[in-house]
Amino acid sequence: MSINLAEKRICVTGGAGFLGSFIMEKLAARGCKDVFVPRSKDYDLATADGITRMYDDAKPDVVIHLAAVVGGIGANREHPGSFFYQNLMMGVQLMEEGRLRGLEKFVAVGTICAYPKFTPVPFKEEELWSGYPEETNAPYGLAKKMMLVQSEAYRDEYDFNSIYLLPVNLYGPRDNFDPASSHVIPALIKKCCDAINAGDDEIIVWGSGTATREFLFAEDCAEGILLATEEYDKSDPVNIGAGREISIKDLVDVIVAETGFDGKVTWDATKPDGQPRRCLDTTRATEEFGFKSKTSFEDGMRETIKWYRDNN
Ligand SMILES: NC(=O)c1ccc[n+]([C@@H]2O[C@H](COP(=O)([O-])OP(=O)(O)OC[C@H]3O[C@@H](n4cnc5c(N)ncnc54)[C@H](OP(=O)(O)O)[C@@H]3O)[C@@H](O)[C@H]2O)c1
Repeated sequence: MSINLAEKRICVTGGAGFLGSFIMEKLAARGCKDVFVPRSKDYDLATADGITRMYDDAKPDVVIHLAAVVGGIGANREHPGSFFYQNLMMGVQLMEEGRLRGLEKFVAVGTICAYPKFTPVPFKEEELWSGYPEETNAPYGLAKKMMLVQSEAYRDEYDFNSIYLLPVNLYGPRDNFDPASSHVIPALIKKCCDAINAGDDEIIVWGSGTATREFLFAEDCAEGILLATEEYDKSDPVNIGAGREISIKDLVDVIVAETGFDGKVTWDATKPDGQPRRCLDTTRATEEFGFKSKTSFEDGMRETIKWYRDNN
């Protein structure tokens, strides 16, 4: 059954984050007035106390759960324990408390890092359990993957309505550009822009460049999540992607060209590549709730670089 979100009390955990900011814009555009965003300083959602108070204060009909501790390969390697614990405890407790309180719908936002390291490309949802994830992001990916198990189990036993979505790597304006925790696109944009500003003629890039990735404009991802919230009521996991694979080498070429950096690119092969290939099969999202990404990679990249330059 389709949900009219404008009539619902909605809680968006992580609503002040990168992806969350686009969800908030799109909820406002749909006429949603009753939207609650629990900030981590007020409600630590990794604790039972934070979750209880959040449900008491927000009294939501629908929870869109985006809150997470996230980062690129470096941050995942440095903090595997806290990434595992925080993400697991948030998801598992939020869904349980929602069930106990008769929540109408729980939307769990997972991650492509849940896929096995050597998944055949394009990744189909049926392949999710055919192997262990790439080691550097396994604790993060598996912690979030437990929400898929929980969603299926709670639907079977309690008839609780939750869904599990798997967005691919995101990029766009308002992304995290902090080198300690950023993902590959903001990290590269910052490197190129900073080198131009400082007059440097070389940038160092992690890995060999052979790994491939798929990137989805965060605004498109937000639309996919809201379409699924409105239209999709099954626990079968759904990929949210753009369906285009690009090597890190080609990605660097695009960012170098778009930023205008004309120095040398040196590859630091002592640093890890992460998962060898990533690209999603997005058929299910199209068939089940009509999602297709709209923004071309070139347009999205230009907008992201412009945002970075305007805000730094
Ligand atoms: N970025 C990507 O490429 C990507 C790809 C696939 C999936 N995802 C998923 O999309 C979601 C959003 O990611 P993002 O990139 O937008 O991350 P983000 O900008 O870091 O936002 C995450 C938000 O989570 C909140 N949060 C973290 N720990 C919390 C806690 N203990 N209690 C309450 N809130 C907490 C933070 O709230 P405060 O601001 O109040 O501290 C933050 O705003 C995550 O679930 C992530 O796994 C992201």
